[in-house]
Amino acid sequence: MYRSRPHGNLDDSALSFLSSVYDDHNLLYYDIIGSQAHVVMLYEVGILSKNELKKILKSTTSLLNEASLLKEFGNSSSEDIHELVESAIIKMTDIESGGKMHTARSRNDQVVLDMRMKVRDDINNICQNLIILISSIIKRAEENMDSIMPMYTHLQHAQLGVFSHYLLSYAYSLIRDFDRFYELYDRVNCSPLGACAIGGSSINIDRERVSSMLGFSGLIYNSIDATSSRDSLIEFASNSLICMLNLCRVSEDLILWSTSEFGFLSLDDRFSSSSSVMPQKKNPDPLEIIRGKTGLANGIFQSISSIMKGLPSGYSRDLQEIKPSLWKMSSLLQDSLLITDGIIKTFNVNKKRMYEISSESYAISLDIAEQLIKKKNISFRSSHKLVGGLVDCAVKKGNISLNKLSIDDLSQVLTNTDFLNYGITPNDLYVLIKDVTPENSINYRITKGSPNKQEQLEMLLFLNRKIDEYQKKCKLRIDSLRDKISELGFTVEKHIDDPS
Ligand code: ARG
Repeated sequence: MYRSRPHGNLDDSALSFLSSVYDDHNLLYYDIIGSQAHVVMLYEVGILSKNELKKILKSTTSLLNEASLLKEFGNSSSEDIHELVESAIIKMTDIESGGKMHTARSRNDQVVLDMRMKVRDDINNICQNLIILISSIIKRAEENMDSIMPMYTHLQHAQLGVFSHYLLSYAYSLIRDFDRFYELYDRVNCSPLGACAIGGSSINIDRERVSSMLGFSGLIYNSIDATSSRDSLIEFASNSLICMLNLCRVSEDLILWSTSEFGFLSLDDRFSSSSSVMPQKKNPDPLEIIRGKTGLANGIFQSISSIMKGLPSGYSRDLQEIKPSLWKMSSLLQDSLLITDGIIKTFNVNKKRMYEISSESYAISLDIAEQLIKKKNISFRSSHKLVGGLVDCAVKKGNISLNKLSIDDLSQVLTNTDFLNYGITPNDLYVLIKDVTPENSINYRITKGSPNKQEQLEMLLFLNRKIDEYQKKCKLRIDSLRDKISELGFTVEKHIDDPS
């Protein structure tokens, strides 16, 4: 629209090809408050008169209160939201007042400003969503400390565990997601404004003042860095992808455990789909969508890094293409966190089924091997061999449980595995196997972080404390940002209402 050197307008096809105006609509609010802070500063350093400031601020508040006004100002003839807002303000004021708004500012620093303001809000939302989800997981873990179930490696029975142990493992990884986002906020929350196109300005503006009015903690100091780099925004995408990968693992576990074959869980009907043709169906579609969206998130991350790769320093229009991908990433993560929370809060746990499968499982083999080491003072390798022989015998007898092996079976195994001279009698083995009930299998595991009750309580204590701490620091950050932005609102109103 502001074409001082080129003659005439862009070709319609070129305009619609390069315009980001429709993708930019979720930057509108940030663009307007960013402009308000900029013009207040321009007034304070003597570049705008009081009257010019009032005119501009009045039109910004009309745009804020009535975004539909923008339509009248030629949505479709703008290259982006910055141009649209500026031209709307010039039309609502006049070229000599509104035309001063862009003094010592470029769309190159402006777009990064808007993106950083949006991403910091998104980070705060994601942190809050993470706290909600982790709290729900902790609550379900507290209810399931005695829900004995097999733990899997290679998707085969490995050792016995408890359901709370799995749930708490999810909470730990989501705590790290929280940490990643929380720390990132400080890198995102710096103002690029005043960097101008790439090399600053000869007009003596006050970059710090704008930064503080908008709630930033400081500047991106170097003007080339401020306009060229997107690393903190890429970090947002990367944190989002990592968090999606964590949610994807949760989803896959829940999908498996809610099959008829496992039968450990049943999803609430509110989070299950049906089939158009098979009346019996209750499908875990929301979880599958999270798995699918994780693929999408991976693709989005690749798009962003591919766009960045090979760009020179200084603004290039390619950078515009990052924005829709970032917004898509942010919304798919926020949606997935909410849905996962709903599913975790409402699924039913079939403790009986979990226990039945556990009590027939060979997942107690390692516990038996360790008891043999302790009681019979043999090496781990020998014990591994003997217990392997027991399992082999039980499988050959039709997959019976180890505690169903008879004294005869046990003496046969001792003979076949060359354990006759180890001072282990069939009766010793019989008593030892009977002792390793599913409950004892868990109780005997004493290492830190294992599934026994005491350790589950330790983990719950740690996570509950963390969540309290995170809730407090998140609230402080959100409140202080909100206060800053409302302070800016008061400053704007004060200027508009000033009779002088
Ligand atoms: N619409 C652009 C973007 O989203 C804003 C910056 C345009 N700057 C320029 N010099 N063409 O990145």
